[in-house]
Amino acid sequence: MVGTSRAHPERRSRSGIFTVPVSIAVIGAGFWGQKVIREILSLSRKTGMVSLRSIVDSSPSALERCRKKVGPLDYRTDYQSLLSDPDLSAVHICTPNSTHFEIASSFIKAGKNVLVEKPLALSSKEAYLLVEQARARRVVLSTGHYHRFNNGLRALKSTLEPSILGEPNYLGLEWTGISPPQDQGNVITDLAPHTFDITNCLTGLWPDKISCVARGYRNKENEEVAFITCEYESGLSAEIEVSILDPRQRRNLRIVAEKGNANLDLLEQKVVLQHEHGVVKIPIIPSNILREEIEHFANCVGRNRLSQTFSNENDGLLGAHVVTCLEAARESLSEEQSVRVKFPSMHGESAVMN
Ligand SMILES: NC(=O)c1ccc[n+]([C@@H]2O[C@H](COP(=O)([O-])OP(=O)(O)OC[C@H]3O[C@@H](n4cnc5c(N)ncnc54)[C@H](O)[C@@H]3O)[C@@H](O)[C@H]2O)c1
Repeated sequence: MVGTSRAHPERRSRSGIFTVPVSIAVIGAGFWGQKVIREILSLSRKTGMVSLRSIVDSSPSALERCRKKVGPLDYRTDYQSLLSDPDLSAVHICTPNSTHFEIASSFIKAGKNVLVEKPLALSSKEAYLLVEQARARRVVLSTGHYHRFNNGLRALKSTLEPSILGEPNYLGLEWTGISPPQDQGNVITDLAPHTFDITNCLTGLWPDKISCVARGYRNKENEEVAFITCEYESGLSAEIEVSILDPRQRRNLRIVAEKGNANLDLLEQKVVLQHEHGVVKIPIIPSNILREEIEHFANCVGRNRLSQTFSNENDGLLGAHVVTCLEAARESLSEEQSVRVKFPSMHGESAVMN
């Protein structure tokens, strides 16, 4: 069913779990790509479910730095030769945002499964096109919204039960830290994707209206801090602060709900709940969220290879909806008013394949 299935004869272990490793290439070996490479190598050693086919970076010096850290592997400066590689099942794209669409589209058209770092693309038109292309080729398309695998977020979600916090009234998200002034990119595109995704993961909702104010201080051309308000049809609202000017590194989500409130530190994976029975710290075993994301992607690829039904928790459609929210925030910023968010209706909204 998947274009690469010829290269991977279907084999199952006694437990029924398929044992042919999903062979993955990492495109982009910079800051994030190196973290991804480490996790793939660790998963490969510990489970055998994935193998690292190749590392690609267009910069020879970045490749050399990576080679020194990771050791002898297949290194390339150009991904083109991998498009027709029968031994390659999938790619994890960790290149700059402006390259996501072109690289992802090339691999999808070549029948490869693709995990693209956030944001899926720079425009919603390109993002939904990737979703359509992946559906047409019947390959897995995932977006790097890896907080869906954060045990803190999972625990927080469970507090929205009617017997605990009940319906949320409003949410507050803080995504801040300090980074050097940037020539390219802006704080909305770079930091807000996770906040839109997390809000959807928690509530199952997408905003109806978005308003945004933002500003650059050190570099007037690129926004360095943004305050985004999301309004939902249900009456819920979410206040999002994203900043690369704040020395406090915060990845926080606060819920004010019918029966109390809760605070999640997404970095520490700690949830503190305040309700009628007092203040409670929820016991959580933190997850390795990047590892779980790659594992989930490999499972989706493996199941797709066997034509089994699977549910892709961070699929391309979620990524495309997040890009629609980013666009709405930018539109609000330029029009200086709140804007209605328009999500195109796509056939098969669910993230379940087959
Ligand atoms: N999930 C997260 O929390 C998270 C965190 C950081 C970065 N990211 C994402 O990861 C991506 C990369 O970010 P980064 O901080 O690692 O950037 P980076 O600049 O450190 O690394 C990007 C690398 O891609 C290489 N590259 C550029 N164009 C290429 C091409 N056409 N083919 C092959 N290689 C190419 C560059 O030489 C560079 O080494 C971005 O999309 C970013 O949004 C995600």
